[in-house]
Amino acid sequence: MNILLTGGTGYIGSHTAVVLAQAGHRVVLFDNLSNSQASTVDRLAQITGQRLPLVVGDVRDEALLANTLRDYAITAVVHFAGLKAVGESVANPLLYFANNLHGTIALLHAMQATGVRQLVFSSSATVYGNPHYLPIDEQHPTGSTNPYGRTKLHVEEMLFDLARSDASWHIACLRYFNPAGAHSSGLIGELPNGIPNNLMPYMAQVATGQRAELTVFGDDYPTSDGTGVRDYIHVMDLAEGHAAALQHLGSQPGWDAINLGTGQGYSVLEMVAAFSRAIGRPLPYRIAERRAGDTAACYADASKALTLLGWQAKRNLDDICSSAWAFQQAHTT
Ligand code: NAD
Ligand code: UD1
Repeated sequence: MNILLTGGTGYIGSHTAVVLAQAGHRVVLFDNLSNSQASTVDRLAQITGQRLPLVVGDVRDEALLANTLRDYAITAVVHFAGLKAVGESVANPLLYFANNLHGTIALLHAMQATGVRQLVFSSSATVYGNPHYLPIDEQHPTGSTNPYGRTKLHVEEMLFDLARSDASWHIACLRYFNPAGAHSSGLIGELPNGIPNNLMPYMAQVATGQRAELTVFGDDYPTSDGTGVRDYIHVMDLAEGHAAALQHLGSQPGWDAINLGTGQGYSVLEMVAAFSRAIGRPLPYRIAERRAGDTAACYADASKALTLLGWQAKRNLDDICSSAWAFQQAHTT
């Protein structure tokens, strides 16, 4: 297949590019580099031996997208491009609606104009809002607790209506749980700007000494040790999930939503223990108040992905932590 990855130089997009290129697909990257670097292409070349084409542009640029789809005879699109910081979306909702919603509408127009009808969309477990039951399957009611989450939900609903209006569309919304870890080469991974909001990159910066200690947000949740429980999925497993979804999509018209998680939840303190194993010493932390908006526990029922796509996560917590640590060390000056 000839596959366009919007947001292809980003964290999940770059790992997916590796898996797809190594599986023999022709991969084209499209990114405005607002949260990634063009040099990712060099690192992808080191890993795959292939120099993947990168089109630098904004997904809101419908004409550029349509030209790209035509020029590279694209048959399927994976739409990663978007903004993803919850706090920023609360402070600046219009930025999120403009980028994530307008960006998707422009992409769909360009796909419609060029006859490309296969789309995988980067959705999130955030579309379930606060969990009503665990593990969370795809039948769980949807909801949203912040503007970022609302953009994911709105896009999913828009895609549902589109597929219902025109039977030629093949659309899969992949609902990621908590992506973490890095490629085993240490060449690509997650490198957030500024102070990380998320647990894994924060722990990595504590390990390098960039931050003094991890702040554990709350130890009074109704969980095994009182700290928050999440479903951390290795980014390479996630990448392989996209390859499986693209394989499946060709013979599957319509719209579907599929969880990509491991089905296993780990607490913050279990994560601290795993990261301490990876670095070979205890990671310093202190317990603090709960973070506003956090939920006690969130993990997937991942059985639909196994039944439908024949995919399940293969890597464990130690693989996640050791790969994240190798990447962090390689990128700390
Ligand atoms: P990322 O920021 O590393 O990658 C997103 C990429 O999209 C970046 O390279 C950025 O430059 C690009 N981009 C943003 N807006 C763009 C635009 N208007 N035009 C062109 N390019 C644009 O983030 P990621 O972690 O790789 O996430 C990829 C997708 O997965 C996002 O849609 C995100 O919401 C979703 N997601 C991520 C997580 C997570 O924890 N990382 C969880 C659930 C869902
Ligand atoms: C957060 C976002 C979610 C987004 C996801 C991307 C919020 C409320 N939710 O999810 O929308 O899809 O990131 O991966 O921002 N923790 C600490 N100390 C820290 C950081 C985190 O104790 O410095 C704890 C949190 O309280 C939580 C767990 O670690 O229990 C995971 O947090 P995080 O990595 O931010 O992910 P989510 O909160 O699940």
